[in-house]
Amino acid sequence: MKAIIPVAGVGTRLRPHTFSRPKVLLNVAGKPIIGHIMDKLIAAGIDEAIVIVGYLGDMVEEWMVKNYSIKFTFVTQTEILGLAHAIWMCKPYVTDNEPLFIILGDTIFDVDLQPVLQSPFSTLGVKEVEDPRRFGVAVTGEGKILKLVEKPDTPVSNLAIVGLYFLQHAGTLFASIDYLISNKIKTKGEYQLTDALQFMIEGGEHFTTFPVHGWYDCGKPETLLSTNEILLKNNVSTKEYPGCIINDPVFIADNAVLENSIIGPYTTIGEHAIIKNVIIKNSIIGYSARVAHIMLSHSIVGNSAFITGSSQEINIGDYSEIRVG
Ligand code: UTP
Repeated sequence: MKAIIPVAGVGTRLRPHTFSRPKVLLNVAGKPIIGHIMDKLIAAGIDEAIVIVGYLGDMVEEWMVKNYSIKFTFVTQTEILGLAHAIWMCKPYVTDNEPLFIILGDTIFDVDLQPVLQSPFSTLGVKEVEDPRRFGVAVTGEGKILKLVEKPDTPVSNLAIVGLYFLQHAGTLFASIDYLISNKIKTKGEYQLTDALQFMIEGGEHFTTFPVHGWYDCGKPETLLSTNEILLKNNVSTKEYPGCIINDPVFIADNAVLENSIIGPYTTIGEHAIIKNVIIKNSIIGYSARVAHIMLSHSIVGNSAFITGSSQEINIGDYSEIRVG
């Protein structure tokens, strides 16, 4: 079965890191966000992916082709007009009667996909959330979805749609998006997938939900760090480093250099990073970053960045240079 993976967005909430790398290539728990997703999809039997690229799309394409051998089709969305528009761009590569699995490129999930991909109905991944106002939500009853609402101002349901969608017939979805686009129906300035799905429900399509207990958002610095913590949960370091205490769980790339430091817990150290005389916990350090004489927690240090100084909480992009006195 084909998976459609939209990754064209700019990732503004993760600036400065997304100035030089697309969001989906940011490292979390030892590999890029999209790597966690691809591994799960391939394990579930997905053998073909249509990837919608846009912002820094060449980097995504290069990384995907280098790391996975399934069939890829890359579609370029030149204007970020919304998720429904991104999916609509895939129309020439899909036949009307085939089922589709759509997954957002920044949603790491932990769910058994086998039953989902065999569902007799179209079905959407949902999770109960405390504050549904930031999400598209599903109103359910009679064993099906009655209604979908994008970012509700009044609390109609706390079942958030988390970015995993299984659709029985690609053709019905494309017809619904066609309708939105030809009538210029946008919500919050974009062609929303939630609106297209709601239109399908109104047309009589039977949708169910499936629970996604493990859903790890990577869209903002704080969620990237909390996802890093969750995914590292069982990671232990087996190597010894001179003068270092390693507090598992951590991920330390094989070729990183560490000296006289206390690392962890919940810390990812990228390839070729050079780490000396530091205390670092709950942080992500990019590849080839150099970090010395500093205490860091809840920090993200970009690739090839250089930082030396004292105790801080920071969020600095690739190639930055910080010297704290
Ligand atoms: P988001 O809106 O959460 O991601 O879209 P973003 O735009 O990259 O991030 P911010 O909001 O600027 O911080 C969810 C997913 O849908 C894709 C995004 O790339 C992301 O993977 N998307 C969204 C598209 O591919 N095209 C669109 O028009 C909109």
